[in-house]
Amino acid sequence: MPASLSEIIMHLLEKEPDNRYQTAEGLIHDLERVRVATAPFRVGERDVPLRLLPPSRLVGRDDELAALGVAFEEALAGRCGGVLVGGAPGVGKTALVNQLRPVVTGRDGWFVAGTFDQYRRDLAFDAVNQAFRALGRLLLAEPEDELGAIRQRILRALGSNAGLMAATSPELAALLDTPPAAGDPLTAQVRAQRAALAMLRAVASRKRPVVVFVDDLQWAGRTPLGFVDLVLSEEPIEGLLLVSAYREADVDATHPMKQMLSRWEQQAGLHQVRLENLPVSGSVAMVAEILRADPAAVTSLAAVIEPHAHGNPYETVELLNALRGEGVLAPTADGWRWDAAAVRAHLGRSEVTGLLKARVAAIPAQSRRMVEAMACLGGRAEASVLQTAIAGPVDGVVQMLAPALAEGVLVLEPGAHDAVRFRHDRIREVVLGGLNPRRRCTLQLAMARRWRRYRSCSRSPRSSTCRCSMPSTITRSNTGWWRCCGGPLTRPR
Ligand SMILES: Nc1ncnc2c1ncn2[C@@H]1O[C@H](COP(=O)(O)OP(=O)(O)O)[C@@H](O)[C@H]1O
Ligand SMILES: [Mg+2]
Repeated sequence: MPASLSEIIMHLLEKEPDNRYQTAEGLIHDLERVRVATAPFRVGERDVPLRLLPPSRLVGRDDELAALGVAFEEALAGRCGGVLVGGAPGVGKTALVNQLRPVVTGRDGWFVAGTFDQYRRDLAFDAVNQAFRALGRLLLAEPEDELGAIRQRILRALGSNAGLMAATSPELAALLDTPPAAGDPLTAQVRAQRAALAMLRAVASRKRPVVVFVDDLQWAGRTPLGFVDLVLSEEPIEGLLLVSAYREADVDATHPMKQMLSRWEQQAGLHQVRLENLPVSGSVAMVAEILRADPAAVTSLAAVIEPHAHGNPYETVELLNALRGEGVLAPTADGWRWDAAAVRAHLGRSEVTGLLKARVAAIPAQSRRMVEAMACLGGRAEASVLQTAIAGPVDGVVQMLAPALAEGVLVLEPGAHDAVRFRHDRIREVVLGGLNPRRRCTLQLAMARRWRRYRSCSRSPRSSTCRCSMPSTITRSNTGWWRCCGGPLTRPR
């Protein structure tokens, strides 16, 4: 086998995904060189992805990762109940906590997660509920005899609240094998919080640790926030760790989390991790990783970007992509080329929000309208939900979204469902901010009406089973329809 072909194969097999080919074009180019040329060449010389992606390994977060690792070890011994990760948007909170996932699974544990939404307070966008549904799916996949024993243990722990837990999701209803029965609505909130904690106590152990990650806690509603408060205020449970990430600047004096935070800070068995922007050396390392270049070769580029991105990882990636899109940063056969003056002039014109707005505006109108509809629905949406909401063509949703996916505004969610989500909540904020209030209200109302019509058609005449993907708990009333499309309680006139 020619040595260069062997090199190509080894490059395809690299352990780190970042070190493998990133594009089919890059691989085709190299294979053609093997076919026509005898002289050696640098593997991957034309392998430049259309959209620059952040490195899969975090830059400059060794201390924070170590702190998370220590908290997990302490949780195994019942000495730590929770970790709070605070910081600005885009600083890397979500990415940091997700690094714990392989650590937990490496110890035979379960890592379950959910994310709160800024504009939705219903169960589908309740991070605690999402995490419990994931836990339910993991438990249901256990071998039948073990599942039976766990079910009994959980039922004993839940007592009369088993029906209440079963009412929160289809996964828990199947797991508990109990008819959903929420019981007295006046006490449901407190009972739900206590029952959720009791269930975790029955499942987590040193042998089968459970890490629950609830992201964007600053947007939590009262019930899930009360649950987090309960877990963090109780004695740590062996094998259970609750990790919460939140935007520090959003928790002002009037925020319901404010008082809790001051209480949590005094709490033994609770770790706090504050994420700051990367220092200059970190920014250089990050630019080098993204461009796959030598740090020394990109120091001057990083220096021009730094005053604009301030070492914020998300903004660094966005700025590099904007520069590339404008052609002031371009790949060549000898590596990346840029004109420092042009880069400075370009960045001087607009901050990151302005660049994001320009990116959204550049998406073709049909795709942009879908992105706007999606921004009203939530940070993520299943293709079937979007299709109904915008009355789009069957099977055409993902194709219609293709330009937004190519632009990096949306990403496909990995997993069995056909779902898309915003690459970051900052993009969603820009999309929503760009909609004038009247248009936003009209769009939300139109979607809510379509949902109501769809639900009336898809309801079987004999049963009240709903086939739409909106949870029935939020689709009962007209207000429910309206709110699940992101609308406030007052309708447009
Ligand atoms: N230290 C880092 N090194 C490399 N990439 C990072 C780092 N921190 C964040 N990122 C990337 O920046 C983007 C924003 O990070 P994210 O975790 O979503 O921010 P946050 O949750 O704080 O808003 C993600 O694409 C993430 O992979
Ligand atoms: Mg985040």
